[in-house]
Amino acid sequence: CAYFEKGQSLKGKHFIVTSGGTREPIDPVRYISNASSGKQGTAIAQSLLNRGAKVSFIYGASDVPPPAGVDAIAIGSAQDMYDAVHRALPADGAIFCAAVADWRPKQAGAEKIKKKHDGTTPSIEMVLNPDILKSVAELDQTKRPALVVGFAAETENLVEHARAKRQRKGCDWLLANDVSPETGTFGGDQNKITFFASDQPEDWPKMSKSGVAEKLADAISKHFGDA
Ligand code: CTP
Ligand code: CA
Repeated sequence: CAYFEKGQSLKGKHFIVTSGGTREPIDPVRYISNASSGKQGTAIAQSLLNRGAKVSFIYGASDVPPPAGVDAIAIGSAQDMYDAVHRALPADGAIFCAAVADWRPKQAGAEKIKKKHDGTTPSIEMVLNPDILKSVAELDQTKRPALVVGFAAETENLVEHARAKRQRKGCDWLLANDVSPETGTFGGDQNKITFFASDQPEDWPKMSKSGVAEKLADAISKHFGDA
């Protein structure tokens, strides 16, 4: 029946899914992070599992637990996520949903930084984190997953920024996400996606994050020729 076929359409395929926010240590008890809920990445992992795929789920701070049935790999920093993603290769597809911190403190103190009592405050020098999506999209043919999918969180000029981002990162598909505060999507249960499989944007209606996950998983199944 159709249900059974949907359940098997990605059988034998391995996907890497990144999800949640990274935490960049300042000292042993403090970090820099972001407000990612991990809901969209978790929903995508679930939809891929439902189609019979094997999923390496590499996740940072998240409001929701990883789906039962994934190979769940918890990480802290962006560098940890980079290492875990490259260890999980090879894969047929990789979906980069995580909100990765763009920068980290240059030096994480070994001891808790003490408050000064003369009124002065510390400055934190930042360095650039590796771009995980770009590093995978740029792998040579023998190592690169056949399908590399990125997300883009934008608050303005979404189409132009997303189109440029897809080119710069070298990913096959990009899901641009309007996260301006009035949409309520960042951390919420719904997403408004503009989908790029080429330079041509395709508008998806605002829908639940599980709806987005199902639509993406359908497109992935079709791409691998089993839908
Ligand atoms: N990403 C990543 N590693 C990073 C930064 C981002 O893998 N160090 C991935 C995200 O998971 C997402 C995509 O790259 O799939 C785009 O992330 P985004 O923050 O929107 O793009 P940036 O290139 O970091 O640009 P900016 O934050 O300036 O918009
Ligand atoms: Ca970024």
